[in-house]
Amino acid sequence: MDVAFNITRKCNKGCDYCYLDLTGEDLSVDTIKKILESLNLKTVTLTGGEPLVHPDIKEILSFISQRGNHIHLLSNGILLNDDYLPTISEANAELFVTYNKPNKKISGNLHQANHEGIDVNLHHVLTEQSVASLDNICQDMGFAKSLLLLYPTDLGDGKVNMYNPDDWFSLLDRAISTTQSYGIKTYFEQAFAKKDSELAKQQPCLTGKDLFIDVNGMAYPCCLLVDKVQGSDRLTPIRMTPDRCNFIRDNPLPDSSEHIRICPIVITDRYDGSFQFPSHLGDKK
Ligand SMILES: C[S@@+](CC[C@H](N)C(=O)[O-])C[C@H]1O[C@@H](n2cnc3c(N)ncnc32)[C@H](O)[C@@H]1O
Ligand code: SF4
Repeated sequence: MDVAFNITRKCNKGCDYCYLDLTGEDLSVDTIKKILESLNLKTVTLTGGEPLVHPDIKEILSFISQRGNHIHLLSNGILLNDDYLPTISEANAELFVTYNKPNKKISGNLHQANHEGIDVNLHHVLTEQSVASLDNICQDMGFAKSLLLLYPTDLGDGKVNMYNPDDWFSLLDRAISTTQSYGIKTYFEQAFAKKDSELAKQQPCLTGKDLFIDVNGMAYPCCLLVDKVQGSDRLTPIRMTPDRCNFIRDNPLPDSSEHIRICPIVITDRYDGSFQFPSHLGDKK
């Protein structure tokens, strides 16, 4: 098992599709240390919000790398500059940067990170609009170690266009044929893949396998469940039903109607059931 820490609910960007309620809280360094001491892990993922705006991010990176853990740092790429790159490089952290459309500043930052020997991976929330820019992105980011195509998850506020399976599969096919023509290793969320396709059989899925620890030290099997379990109604109207997702259709669970409406990744076999959720790992605030 790996762990993803949501170290902050602050962000310096504010994407309109973001699933997270950006309340401004941070996970304390002491809580991170305490949780890490109680778990036997290889890889630690740091996410948010934007992890680089956490006031103690440099201390967190150094502490985790000195423990001998490999770090996956998720970021929007804005702060990957001379101030942060040396610490990221010293910590031997690997970057996973969301890059949905070409942007000179982010491109420059990623080129610099690559130049400094940092592994760069890309996240891309795939839409009918974004697919056209994948060609440019791949041309520019030939050094990317991998690219993960994310399904745009509806928050129920009409800002995200949910795709029906046929439209989504055809979008995914177009995106993958572009990224693969540049030789970039491409992943996608299997819950949203055509189950009988060769690609779905070949490609391991990178999402949904981590334990997700929120800013208050509570652990969840999936980041998308966090706000829901905490009583927010932001995610309530998600319509993840069997007709929308082949995974749910093929793997029905008797009492999972609530989960089905939130996120199908939750009910995949990537969650081994050894934790009760949400479980309390850190100090309650
Ligand atoms: C919450 S962000 C945190 C890390 C960092 N701030 C970033 O944007 O990469 C983690 C990932 O979730 C993705 N994400 C956020 N809201 C989403 C949504 N509604 N549907 C799909 N992916 C989403 C982001 O694009 C990003 O790749
Ligand atoms: S940069 Fe990341 S955390 Fe910030 S709003 Fe966008 S998706 Fe959300």
